[in-house]
Amino acid sequence: MRRDTHRRYRKRVPWRRLTPATVALGEKLFFESRLSGDGTVACATCHDPARAFTDGRPASVGIHGRVGQRNAPTILNALYNKTQFWDGRVNTLEQQAALPITNPFEMGSVSIGDAVSRIAGDTDYQTQFMQAFGRGVNEQDMLRAIATYERTLVSFDSPFDHFIAGDTNAIGDSAKRGWELFNTKARCHLCHALTDNQRDVTVFTDNDFHNIGIGILRHHVAPLAQQAERDLALGQLQEVDAAAITSEMSVLGRFLITKKQSDIASFKTPDLRNILLTGPYFHDGSMQTLWDVMDHYNKGDGVSDPWLDEDMQPLALTESEIDDVVAFLASLTSPQYRKVGDQEYARQLALSKVDRPQRDTARAFGPKPLQPKPPPF
Ligand code: HEC
Ligand code: HEC
Repeated sequence: MRRDTHRRYRKRVPWRRLTPATVALGEKLFFESRLSGDGTVACATCHDPARAFTDGRPASVGIHGRVGQRNAPTILNALYNKTQFWDGRVNTLEQQAALPITNPFEMGSVSIGDAVSRIAGDTDYQTQFMQAFGRGVNEQDMLRAIATYERTLVSFDSPFDHFIAGDTNAIGDSAKRGWELFNTKARCHLCHALTDNQRDVTVFTDNDFHNIGIGILRHHVAPLAQQAERDLALGQLQEVDAAAITSEMSVLGRFLITKKQSDIASFKTPDLRNILLTGPYFHDGSMQTLWDVMDHYNKGDGVSDPWLDEDMQPLALTESEIDDVVAFLASLTSPQYRKVGDQEYARQLALSKVDRPQRDTARAFGPKPLQPKPPPF
């Protein structure tokens, strides 16, 4: 950015300045359960720093114990996301922060104003808002502060980063083989990289949406899509948010926003950093271990899914190749999570020895099945 452009930009949006006062306020708000309707749920309830800002549940549990439809993604490195949420329904962290506060299955405040009113009388907040923004407690600055705090949550410096930087001993041979497979035979780079033919060592996502066949068999997709076209005709963000978290329409993914048939059950390619900490996996938390994830990809799952991404196909990975890719994924754990990561690796490994519900070796080594045509709408 040119310098004068930068200055004008800062003048227009001075809150973009990442000051310690704003970050401290944002952090406090992130842990503030008074922002929820009954004072019991904070952002951190579902985005727990000890679990790499996730909750370890298949689907998150919000106010009054209500169970939503989706798995909580990590907030680490969320600042790099081109869009937020599994379906990318908003672009910025500010827009994002407003939605869980009023979502009836999450924090359940009747309005953002209602949430603000519950902290506005608190003299600590009054002082902190003044320090951060030069004015009293208000809705807009509250969302800005939360987003600013989130922008400080970067996480790199994993063994894999040391390996890529030249320390050949930072990861084991299995992980090294896994990284090669990731970019070749296992085809992961087709989506978990910025481009199809260049290796990506930063956040492992193409910022795009794909249907990789998760959860779709459990639902009657065509009638749900018709319902979404009717119910969400106006495309209002709050309604889309409610549908995504509280209704069976959730499975439609990106379609809820674009209403394009090709986006049915498409979800955002997630970052893979700290993946040992962020399970269970996929938008619905339907898989317990990274071995399950690998078994899913290995069989090119999505039989009878007419909207399956064309890059999905059986991979014919052997058991030791699967172990290698998992070892690579495990090398993406940042140092602050090393201990928990090691424990989780051991737990998943033990589980994978007794239970591999997704494994289907015949399909993994078989031909790519014929894809059915989409049903008529
Ligand atoms: C009840 C649990 C719950 C609470 C409370 C909650 N979240 Fe989330 N969060 C989720 C779930 C589940 C998703 C994914 C939803 C989706 O994609 O539709 C999510 C998604 C996000 C994302 C998008 C990340 C990505 O990779 O796309 C961000 C950022 C985020 N939440 C921040 C917050 C903030 C800030 C708050 C507090 C204002 C908050 N969350 C409160 C469960 C929760
Ligand atoms: C066609 C694109 C595509 C390919 C190829 C692909 N992925 Fe994914 N990946 C995605 C998308 C999209 C999701 C989220 C899907 C969902 O939740 O419905 C995902 C989710 C994941 C998750 C779960 C992340 C989380 O936070 O829950 C892991 C782990 C993962 N992929 C690893 C891999 C590996 C390893 C490979 C190669 C064997 C691979 N992916 C190949 C697109 C792809």
